[in-house]
Amino acid sequence: MRPELAAKYDLRVPRYTSYPTAPHFSPAVGADRYGQWLAELPPTTPLSLYLHIAYCAEMCWFCGCHTKITRQYAPVADYMDCLWREVDMVAGRLSQRMPASHIHFGGGSPTILTPDDFVATIERLRRHFLVAEDAEIAVELDPRTADEDYVKAMAGCGVTRASIGVQDFNPVVQKAINRIQPYEVTAQVIGWLRQYGVPEINMDLVYGLPHQTADSLIETVDLAVGFKPRRIALFGYAHVPWMKKHQRLIPEAALPDLSERWRQYDTAGARLVEHGYIQVGLDHFALADDEMAEALRENRLHRNFQGYTTDEASVLLGFGASGIGSLPQGYVANEGAIHAYKQVIRAGRLATTRGVAVSPEDLLRRSLIERLMCDLSLDVEAVCARFGADPAQFDAELDGLAGLEGDGLLTREGRRITMTEEGRPLVRAACAVFDRYLRAGETRHSKAV
Ligand SMILES: C[S@@+](CC[C@H](N)C(=O)[O-])C[C@H]1O[C@@H](n2cnc3c(N)ncnc32)[C@H](O)[C@@H]1O
Ligand code: SF4
Repeated sequence: MRPELAAKYDLRVPRYTSYPTAPHFSPAVGADRYGQWLAELPPTTPLSLYLHIAYCAEMCWFCGCHTKITRQYAPVADYMDCLWREVDMVAGRLSQRMPASHIHFGGGSPTILTPDDFVATIERLRRHFLVAEDAEIAVELDPRTADEDYVKAMAGCGVTRASIGVQDFNPVVQKAINRIQPYEVTAQVIGWLRQYGVPEINMDLVYGLPHQTADSLIETVDLAVGFKPRRIALFGYAHVPWMKKHQRLIPEAALPDLSERWRQYDTAGARLVEHGYIQVGLDHFALADDEMAEALRENRLHRNFQGYTTDEASVLLGFGASGIGSLPQGYVANEGAIHAYKQVIRAGRLATTRGVAVSPEDLLRRSLIERLMCDLSLDVEAVCARFGADPAQFDAELDGLAGLEGDGLLTREGRRITMTEEGRPLVRAACAVFDRYLRAGETRHSKAV
């Protein structure tokens, strides 16, 4: 990325993990509406289930996730009791036992659970849903809290994918983010995963952290690749200390500036490609025979609240504090505050506090944005044809891309656009022209602070 373009397009645009995006959710959609939407679901629709485990044993100072620190297990046990009740309640609103094709344990740290509670959770899901034989069951795994018994329990439950949080192998970086995770700890957990038969391994790395350099990232990338994970996510550190107070403990003077961040992204990405990984969208890398690389080739990649995914289920049900769901009728989000979440569930009510109903126009725009985010190219006419819509209605939006085109970040042929390789990291800026809510509201091109 040329430095002048990095500065020019230092944009605050959404990550487009949904459309309309989360700031446009409102209390107009609450528990009653969610209950109604659940009852209306066609009974044979495959479901994707997301369970948010909102606890960690220790705070990583860079963390941007929705989590709470606990040294005791009692609050976690109490939370799981509520989450199980929520699963019972949601399943009770469905017209029958519905199929589930995808289960994702996210957090926080699902590995904070006892093996027994993990098994009990899966058993409960299997009781309420027809979990497909070939269902993907994925777990976000913090190697520092996953012991051998936990990995054994995961494998015994049929978990198909472990997503391992690494971030960076460098001890100086680890100290600055308060996440001491020796290489051997990661190696050991990967050994157990392979020994007990969890077939797929993903790894999360982060650039833009304190004390990182392009060179130190290459070392981290090489160590990560040595484990042969099928997928590697390379996230840019989101520094938002005004929202996440613990990030104030990050030494800001040690953070790379904008042009160094781009250099790190470019260097680490190029190294992964050298190692044989295919870049998927903005921040994922997959081996050529991995399902995600296949989905990319066949334009079947999707984007949901967890980011890029091969999950094709059209309904996502979210459980736990801050859990988000996506239904044909719209989006729903649960209460985020853990205490309030527990109270509502204990009172026997669904914990939905916000959401948004989607209009036919939202669905069309969502599809345009999703295709562009996933394929890095968009054929407006092809998407409109699927919706029986007139593509000419988006000509003004396409004209709005002239700046990006002029800077060599995308090419346009009629109603078809393609991001150039240099434009790839700025795909969200291109998506933003199709975002009706953004255009109606905030300043689109305000710079990040
Ligand atoms: C819920 S965590 C993964 C599981 C587990 N809690 C762990 O950290 O190992 C999800 C991932 O989000 C990424 N992440 C967390 N905070 C971030 C931030 N502020 N900016 C960018 N990525 C972040 C990390 O790569 C992390 O592995
Ligand atoms: S990065 Fe993972 S382990 Fe660390 S605080 Fe955040 S959710 Fe917890």
